[in-house]
Amino acid sequence: MPAALVARELRRRFGPVEALAGLGFEVAAGELYGLVGPDGAGKTTALRALAGLVRLDAGEVRVLGQDPAGGGEVRERLGMMPQQYSLYGDLSVAENLAFFARLYALPRATFRERARRLLALTRLDRFRERRAEALSGGMYKKLALACALLHEPAVLLLDEPTTGVDPVSRRELWALLHEFVHGGMAVLVTTPYMDEAERCDRVGLVHRGRLLEEGAPRDLVDRYAAEGRPGRHGGAPDFEDLFVARVEGRA
Ligand SMILES: Nc1ncnc2c1ncn2[C@@H]1O[C@H](COP(=O)(O)OP(=O)(O)O)[C@@H](O)[C@H]1O
Ligand SMILES: [Mg+2]
Repeated sequence: MPAALVARELRRRFGPVEALAGLGFEVAAGELYGLVGPDGAGKTTALRALAGLVRLDAGEVRVLGQDPAGGGEVRERLGMMPQQYSLYGDLSVAENLAFFARLYALPRATFRERARRLLALTRLDRFRERRAEALSGGMYKKLALACALLHEPAVLLLDEPTTGVDPVSRRELWALLHEFVHGGMAVLVTTPYMDEAERCDRVGLVHRGRLLEEGAPRDLVDRYAAEGRPGRHGGAPDFEDLFVARVEGRA
């Protein structure tokens, strides 16, 4: 089966900055893939490229086999949650969902059913009348996620969904993502938090616009441990040890 998301040799320069320097990876349907890397690594640019929102200097992206910049039906099968997702602060939870449903031109009955399900899934149903600006950071992200899922995309791109979110809501967000993936969705998520790598099926370590390493998180850490290097606290190495070592190896 062809990959749901393909990024091949992506290159993009902003003046002196090489934001993407040959980045490439693939995400299958039913897979949760994490782009893990520090601020400035190129994560957002890669995500925007996959949504067809960045002009590339070189390389190509495919979403469900098509070019997302070509417009058409593939755009409708793509869901995207940017890091700064703009909800309407003075509209309630329910009203925000209704607003996005109109953008997607969902029939009323379809919207009602999906909104009900998404509100239950995100456990926002008790807060449906609360204004978005009065939600906690975690609840705001969950509402943004619900809005991004209203049109039931086959592919979901999420830019740092857990940044600035409390630990409990972080765990809930990851649990939600696992549910979607279980249902066959292809999910690409970025995170600057090394400890979130292990929540993904596969991760790509991004640094300066390219992948340093890629694989199942457990395999990557095991491989690193097999090199005989201790963790920074003297014990078994973890993902952060691995990442720091790989970055230093490139320095
Ligand atoms: N529109 C832009 N104009 C100029 N520089 C940009 C632009 N977008 C991204 N960059 C630069 O490209 C690099 C990668 O940025 P970004 O993709 O946002 O990284 P990340 O999301 O991993 O923090 C950074 O140095 C950033 O400042
Ligand atoms: Mg970013």
